[in-house]
Amino acid sequence: MESKKILVTGGNRGIGKGIVEGFLNDGNEVLASCRDLSKFPIKSDRLTVAELDISDSKSVDKFKKIVDDFRPEILINNAGITRDNLFLRMSDDEWLDVINTNLTGTYRVTKLVTKCMLKQKWGRIINISSISGMMGNSGQANYSASKSGIDGFTRSLAKELGSRNITVNSIAPGFISTDMTEDLINEDLIKKIPLKRMGVVEDVVSLVLFLSSDDANYITGQTLVVDGGLFMK
Ligand code: NAI
Repeated sequence: MESKKILVTGGNRGIGKGIVEGFLNDGNEVLASCRDLSKFPIKSDRLTVAELDISDSKSVDKFKKIVDDFRPEILINNAGITRDNLFLRMSDDEWLDVINTNLTGTYRVTKLVTKCMLKQKWGRIINISSISGMMGNSGQANYSASKSGIDGFTRSLAKELGSRNITVNSIAPGFISTDMTEDLINEDLIKKIPLKRMGVVEDVVSLVLFLSSDDANYITGQTLVVDGGLFMK
Protein backbone atom coordinates (compact mmCIF):
# COMPACT_ATOMS: atom_id res chain seq x y z
CA MET A 1 0.00 0.00 0.00
CA GLU A 2 1.12 3.60 -0.50
CA SER A 3 2.61 5.23 2.61
CA LYS A 4 -0.03 6.18 5.16
CA LYS A 5 -0.18 8.08 8.49
CA ILE A 6 -1.07 5.86 11.40
CA LEU A 7 -1.87 6.61 15.04
CA VAL A 8 -1.28 3.70 17.45
CA THR A 9 -2.16 4.02 21.15
CA GLY A 10 -0.04 2.16 23.70
CA GLY A 11 2.77 1.64 21.19
CA ASN A 12 5.60 1.06 23.65
CA ARG A 13 5.24 -2.65 24.33
CA GLY A 14 3.38 -5.88 23.56
CA ILE A 15 0.89 -5.91 20.70
CA GLY A 16 1.08 -2.10 20.25
CA LYS A 17 4.86 -2.18 19.80
CA GLY A 18 4.47 -4.95 17.20
CA ILE A 19 1.87 -2.86 15.35
CA VAL A 20 4.17 0.20 15.31
CA GLU A 21 7.06 -1.93 13.98
CA GLY A 22 4.81 -3.57 11.37
CA PHE A 23 3.66 -0.23 9.95
CA LEU A 24 7.19 1.25 10.01
CA ASN A 25 8.60 -1.82 8.22
CA ASP A 26 6.02 -1.23 5.46
CA GLY A 27 7.30 2.35 4.98
CA ASN A 28 4.50 4.24 6.77
CA GLU A 29 4.59 7.28 9.06
CA VAL A 30 3.55 6.48 12.63
CA LEU A 31 2.42 8.55 15.60
CA ALA A 32 2.67 6.31 18.66
CA SER A 33 1.38 7.24 22.07
CA CYS A 34 2.77 6.05 25.35
CA ARG A 35 2.59 7.12 28.98
CA ASP A 36 6.34 7.54 29.58
CA LEU A 37 8.31 8.95 26.65
CA SER A 38 11.68 8.07 28.20
CA LYS A 39 10.83 4.37 27.96
CA PHE A 40 9.88 4.26 24.27
CA PRO A 41 11.87 1.39 22.72
CA ILE A 42 11.73 2.15 18.96
CA LYS A 43 13.44 4.90 16.95
CA SER A 44 12.79 5.90 13.34
CA ASP A 45 12.71 9.13 11.36
CA ARG A 46 9.17 8.15 10.34
CA LEU A 47 8.08 7.79 13.98
CA THR A 48 6.69 10.48 16.30
CA VAL A 49 6.12 9.55 19.93
CA ALA A 50 3.81 11.55 22.20
CA GLU A 51 2.59 11.22 25.75
CA LEU A 52 -1.04 10.22 26.25
CA ASP A 53 -3.09 8.77 29.08
CA ILE A 54 -6.36 7.69 27.47
CA SER A 55 -8.05 7.42 30.88
CA ASP A 56 -7.55 11.15 31.49
CA SER A 57 -9.61 13.58 29.40
CA LYS A 58 -7.11 16.43 30.12
CA SER A 59 -4.27 14.34 28.67
CA VAL A 60 -6.44 13.56 25.62
CA ASP A 61 -7.21 17.29 25.19
CA LYS A 62 -3.45 18.02 25.22
CA PHE A 63 -2.84 15.26 22.65
CA LYS A 64 -5.43 16.81 20.27
CA LYS A 65 -3.00 19.40 18.89
CA ILE A 66 -0.50 16.67 17.96
CA VAL A 67 -3.24 14.65 16.24
CA ASP A 68 -4.52 17.71 14.35
CA ASP A 69 -0.99 18.41 13.05
CA PHE A 70 -0.30 14.76 12.18
CA ARG A 71 -3.69 14.09 10.47
CA PRO A 72 -3.91 10.30 10.87
CA GLU A 73 -5.54 8.22 8.14
CA ILE A 74 -5.57 5.05 10.22
CA LEU A 75 -6.24 4.74 13.95
CA ILE A 76 -5.36 1.65 15.98
CA ASN A 77 -7.00 1.79 19.41
CA ASN A 78 -4.71 -0.69 21.15
CA ALA A 79 -4.09 0.65 24.69
CA GLY A 80 -5.87 -1.32 27.38
CA ILE A 81 -5.60 -2.69 30.91
CA THR A 82 -6.87 -5.53 33.08
CA ARG A 83 -7.81 -5.32 36.78
CA ASP A 84 -8.97 -8.89 37.31
CA ASN A 85 -11.01 -9.98 40.32
CA LEU A 86 -13.96 -12.24 41.00
CA PHE A 87 -17.14 -10.21 40.66
CA LEU A 88 -18.14 -10.51 44.35
CA ARG A 89 -14.77 -9.05 45.34
CA MET A 90 -14.52 -6.51 42.54
CA SER A 91 -14.21 -2.94 43.80
CA ASP A 92 -15.82 0.08 42.16
CA ASP A 93 -12.32 1.31 41.33
CA GLU A 94 -11.43 -1.94 39.53
CA TRP A 95 -14.65 -1.69 37.53
CA LEU A 96 -14.35 2.02 36.73
CA ASP A 97 -10.61 1.98 35.88
CA VAL A 98 -11.10 -0.71 33.25
CA ILE A 99 -14.23 0.81 31.70
CA ASN A 100 -12.69 4.30 31.75
CA THR A 101 -9.44 3.16 30.11
CA ASN A 102 -10.56 0.49 27.66
CA LEU A 103 -13.99 1.71 26.58
CA THR A 104 -14.11 5.44 27.31
CA GLY A 105 -10.44 5.81 26.32
CA THR A 106 -11.22 4.24 22.93
CA TYR A 107 -14.16 6.62 22.55
CA ARG A 108 -11.99 9.65 23.47
CA VAL A 109 -9.20 8.92 20.98
CA THR A 110 -11.64 7.99 18.20
CA LYS A 111 -13.40 11.33 18.71
CA LEU A 112 -10.07 13.11 18.12
CA VAL A 113 -9.43 11.53 14.72
CA THR A 114 -12.91 11.21 13.22
CA LYS A 115 -13.30 14.83 12.01
CA CYS A 116 -9.91 14.65 10.34
CA MET A 117 -10.86 11.38 8.57
CA LEU A 118 -14.17 12.92 7.45
CA LYS A 119 -12.28 15.82 5.86
CA GLN A 120 -9.90 13.39 4.15
CA LYS A 121 -12.89 11.30 2.93
CA TRP A 122 -10.96 8.16 3.83
CA GLY A 123 -10.15 6.38 7.07
CA ARG A 124 -9.60 3.14 8.88
CA ILE A 125 -10.34 2.60 12.55
CA ILE A 126 -9.24 -0.68 14.14
CA ASN A 127 -10.11 -1.34 17.77
CA ILE A 128 -8.39 -4.09 19.73
CA SER A 129 -11.07 -5.86 21.76
CA SER A 130 -10.77 -9.42 23.10
CA ILE A 131 -12.40 -12.85 22.99
CA SER A 132 -13.14 -12.20 26.69
CA GLY A 133 -15.79 -9.80 25.44
CA MET A 134 -17.38 -12.55 23.33
CA MET A 135 -17.10 -15.68 25.46
CA GLY A 136 -16.80 -14.12 28.95
CA ASN A 137 -14.06 -15.01 31.42
CA SER A 138 -14.26 -15.59 35.19
CA GLY A 139 -12.56 -12.77 37.05
CA GLN A 140 -12.91 -10.39 34.11
CA ALA A 141 -16.47 -8.99 34.35
CA ASN A 142 -15.04 -5.46 34.03
CA TYR A 143 -12.66 -6.31 31.16
CA SER A 144 -15.25 -8.41 29.25
CA ALA A 145 -17.83 -5.62 29.57
CA SER A 146 -15.31 -3.06 28.27
CA LYS A 147 -14.28 -5.24 25.33
CA SER A 148 -17.79 -6.23 24.20
CA GLY A 149 -18.59 -2.52 24.57
CA ILE A 150 -15.80 -1.84 22.08
CA ASP A 151 -17.31 -4.36 19.64
CA GLY A 152 -20.74 -2.64 19.87
CA PHE A 153 -19.09 0.77 19.49
CA THR A 154 -17.32 -0.58 16.38
CA ARG A 155 -20.56 -1.70 14.73
CA SER A 156 -22.42 1.58 15.44
CA LEU A 157 -19.53 3.67 14.17
CA ALA A 158 -19.21 1.51 11.05
CA LYS A 159 -22.85 2.33 10.25
CA GLU A 160 -22.38 6.06 10.88
CA LEU A 161 -19.14 6.46 8.95
CA GLY A 162 -19.49 3.94 6.12
CA SER A 163 -20.94 6.45 3.66
CA ARG A 164 -17.85 8.62 4.23
CA ASN A 165 -15.42 5.88 3.15
CA ILE A 166 -14.28 5.15 6.70
CA THR A 167 -14.23 1.51 7.79
CA VAL A 168 -14.38 0.50 11.45
CA ASN A 169 -13.49 -2.99 12.62
CA SER A 170 -12.33 -4.66 15.79
CA ILE A 171 -9.87 -7.47 16.36
CA ALA A 172 -10.53 -9.88 19.21
CA PRO A 173 -7.30 -11.65 20.17
CA GLY A 174 -7.29 -14.80 22.27
CA PHE A 175 -4.27 -15.42 24.50
CA ILE A 176 -1.25 -13.64 23.04
CA SER A 177 2.15 -13.84 24.81
CA THR A 178 2.79 -10.33 26.21
CA ASP A 179 3.38 -8.75 29.64
CA MET A 180 -0.41 -8.72 30.10
CA THR A 181 -0.68 -12.52 29.92
CA GLU A 182 2.65 -13.67 31.38
CA ASP A 183 0.98 -14.90 34.61
CA LEU A 184 -1.78 -16.77 32.74
CA ILE A 185 0.20 -19.26 30.66
CA ASN A 186 -0.28 -22.84 31.82
CA GLU A 187 -0.69 -26.30 30.30
CA ASP A 188 -4.45 -26.49 30.95
CA LEU A 189 -4.97 -23.31 28.95
CA ILE A 190 -2.84 -24.54 26.03
CA LYS A 191 -4.83 -27.83 25.95
CA LYS A 192 -8.04 -25.84 25.33
CA ILE A 193 -6.59 -24.05 22.29
CA PRO A 194 -7.11 -26.11 19.09
CA LEU A 195 -3.78 -24.84 17.65
CA LYS A 196 -2.05 -25.87 20.95
CA ARG A 197 -0.07 -22.69 21.46
CA MET A 198 -0.37 -19.15 22.74
CA GLY A 199 -0.60 -16.53 20.01
CA VAL A 200 2.36 -14.29 19.26
CA VAL A 201 2.21 -10.55 18.66
CA GLU A 202 2.81 -11.08 14.90
CA ASP A 203 -0.46 -13.11 14.70
CA VAL A 204 -2.36 -9.91 15.57
CA VAL A 205 -0.09 -7.51 13.65
CA SER A 206 -0.65 -9.33 10.34
CA LEU A 207 -4.43 -8.89 10.68
CA VAL A 208 -4.04 -5.20 11.60
CA LEU A 209 -1.95 -4.69 8.44
CA PHE A 210 -4.48 -6.58 6.31
CA LEU A 211 -7.45 -4.55 7.65
CA SER A 212 -5.47 -1.35 6.96
CA SER A 213 -4.76 -2.35 3.36
CA ASP A 214 -6.79 -1.89 0.18
CA ASP A 215 -7.44 -5.65 0.24
CA ALA A 216 -9.88 -4.96 3.11
CA ASN A 217 -11.75 -2.10 1.40
CA TYR A 218 -15.14 -3.85 1.68
CA ILE A 219 -14.85 -5.06 5.28
CA THR A 220 -16.50 -2.93 7.98
CA GLY A 221 -18.38 -3.39 11.25
CA GLN A 222 -16.73 -6.75 11.88
CA THR A 223 -15.02 -8.29 14.88
CA LEU A 224 -12.29 -10.63 13.64
CA VAL A 225 -11.06 -13.26 16.06
CA VAL A 226 -7.36 -14.28 16.32
CA ASP A 227 -7.31 -16.97 18.98
CA GLY A 228 -6.02 -20.28 17.58
CA GLY A 229 -9.61 -21.57 17.57
CA LEU A 230 -10.28 -21.13 21.31
CA PHE A 231 -13.66 -19.48 20.78
CA MET A 232 -15.91 -20.82 18.03
CA LYS A 233 -19.44 -19.51 17.64
P1 NAI B 1 0.37 -4.68 27.46
O1 NAI B 1 -0.04 -4.55 28.89
O2 NAI B 1 1.69 -5.26 27.13
O3 NAI B 1 0.26 -3.26 26.72
C1 NAI B 1 -0.80 -2.39 26.96
C2 NAI B 1 -0.45 -1.03 26.40
O4 NAI B 1 -1.51 -0.12 26.73
C3 NAI B 1 0.83 -0.45 27.03
O5 NAI B 1 1.55 0.23 26.03
C4 NAI B 1 0.30 0.54 28.04
O6 NAI B 1 1.20 1.60 28.32
C5 NAI B 1 -0.95 1.03 27.33
N1 NAI B 1 -1.89 1.65 28.27
C6 NAI B 1 -2.49 1.09 29.33
N2 NAI B 1 -3.25 2.00 29.95
C7 NAI B 1 -3.13 3.16 29.26
C8 NAI B 1 -3.66 4.46 29.41
N3 NAI B 1 -4.46 4.79 30.43
N4 NAI B 1 -3.32 5.42 28.51
C9 NAI B 1 -2.50 5.12 27.48
N5 NAI B 1 -1.94 3.91 27.28
C10 NAI B 1 -2.27 2.95 28.17
O7 NAI B 1 -0.81 -5.49 26.80
P2 NAI B 1 -0.97 -6.20 25.37
O8 NAI B 1 -1.09 -7.64 25.62
O9 NAI B 1 0.02 -5.71 24.41
O10 NAI B 1 -2.42 -5.66 24.99
C11 NAI B 1 -2.69 -4.71 23.97
C12 NAI B 1 -4.18 -4.69 23.73
O11 NAI B 1 -4.60 -5.99 23.32
C13 NAI B 1 -5.01 -4.34 24.96
O12 NAI B 1 -6.11 -3.55 24.59
C14 NAI B 1 -5.47 -5.69 25.45
O13 NAI B 1 -6.64 -5.61 26.20
C15 NAI B 1 -5.67 -6.43 24.13
N6 NAI B 1 -5.66 -7.87 24.24
C16 NAI B 1 -4.52 -8.53 24.63
C17 NAI B 1 -4.55 -9.92 24.71
C18 NAI B 1 -3.36 -10.71 25.10
O14 NAI B 1 -3.50 -11.94 25.21
N7 NAI B 1 -2.20 -10.14 25.30
C19 NAI B 1 -5.78 -10.67 24.42
C20 NAI B 1 -6.90 -9.88 24.02
C21 NAI B 1 -6.82 -8.52 23.94
